[in-house]
Amino acid sequence: MNILLTGGTGYIASHTSVVLDSAGHNVVLFDNFSNSRRSVSRRVNQICKKVIPCIEGDIRDTLLLIKILGDFKIDAVMHFAGLKSVAESDQEPLKYYDNNVAGSISLLEAMKKTGVKSIVFSSSATVYGTPNYLPYDEKHPLNPINTYGRTKLQVEQILLDLANSDPTWSIALLRYFNPVGAHESGLIGEDPNGIPNNLMPYVTQVVAGILPHVNIFGNDFDTRDGTGERDYIHIMDLAEGHHAALNYLANRHGCEIFNFGTGTPVSVLELIGAYQKAADKNIPVKIAPRRIGDLATYYANPKKVFELTGWKAARGIHDICLSTMQWEEFRGELIELE
Ligand code: WQD
Repeated sequence: MNILLTGGTGYIASHTSVVLDSAGHNVVLFDNFSNSRRSVSRRVNQICKKVIPCIEGDIRDTLLLIKILGDFKIDAVMHFAGLKSVAESDQEPLKYYDNNVAGSISLLEAMKKTGVKSIVFSSSATVYGTPNYLPYDEKHPLNPINTYGRTKLQVEQILLDLANSDPTWSIALLRYFNPVGAHESGLIGEDPNGIPNNLMPYVTQVVAGILPHVNIFGNDFDTRDGTGERDYIHIMDLAEGHHAALNYLANRHGCEIFNFGTGTPVSVLELIGAYQKAADKNIPVKIAPRRIGDLATYYANPKKVFELTGWKAARGIHDICLSTMQWEEFRGELIELE
């Protein structure tokens, strides 16, 4: 199949592009490079040993999308493009609604006009909000507690309404938990701008000597060791999950929702401990106040995606730490080169 990946040089899309290419699909990357490096495209080519087309553009440019969907005879779209900082989303809601919601509508208009009616949407577990029960299954009430989560939920609603209005659409909504880790080559990985907000890239920069210590945001939560628990999913498991979702859509119509997590909660201290073991290095930490809006614990019930697609996470925390370390080594050199 010919598959367009919006946000194609981002963390999740770049890893997914490698999996789709190795499965024999023709991939086209589309990105405005607002939150990723152009060099990711070159490094994806290096991994795939071929030139993967990479088009610069913004998903709000509907006419450009119509041209690309036609020129490359696209069969399906994987929609990753979007802003994803929880903190920034509450400070700049209009920027997030314009990019994430209006941008998605622009993409869907272009798809409708060109008759491309198969889409895998990059959603997020933040659509659930404060847990009524755990693990979250796909039936859990939806009550996002930040603007980022609300933009993801609104795009989910748009896609559900689209599927109800026109049964010829094939739609998968993937609710990610906490993607971490990197491709085995060490050429691509999570590459946040500036000081990382998320735990894993922060830990890797402390181990690399870039940052002095890890701030643990609260150790008095009602969890096993008092620190926050999350469902960390290896990026390559998640990338393979997108391929499984695409195969699921191949001969089906309608809209299906899947949780993408491991089903196993890991605490901040457990993650840091695993990283210390993998790196054989002590990681300095400081207990800091809780971060506003942080939930104590959340993790996935991944039963449905396994039952319907056969996918389940295969890699654990040790693999995550090893692959991240290898990527961080290369990322350090990359920054000097670019
Ligand atoms: C994980 C745990 C923190 C940093 C976010 C987004 C979510 C999704 C994944 C897109 C928490 C603790 C963190 C640090 C710490 N992204 N922590 N020190 O907040 O679970 O989810 O990323 O879909 O939408 O909200 O991830 O990595 O920021 O935090 O103690 O320096 O680590 O309190 O318990 P989070 P995170």
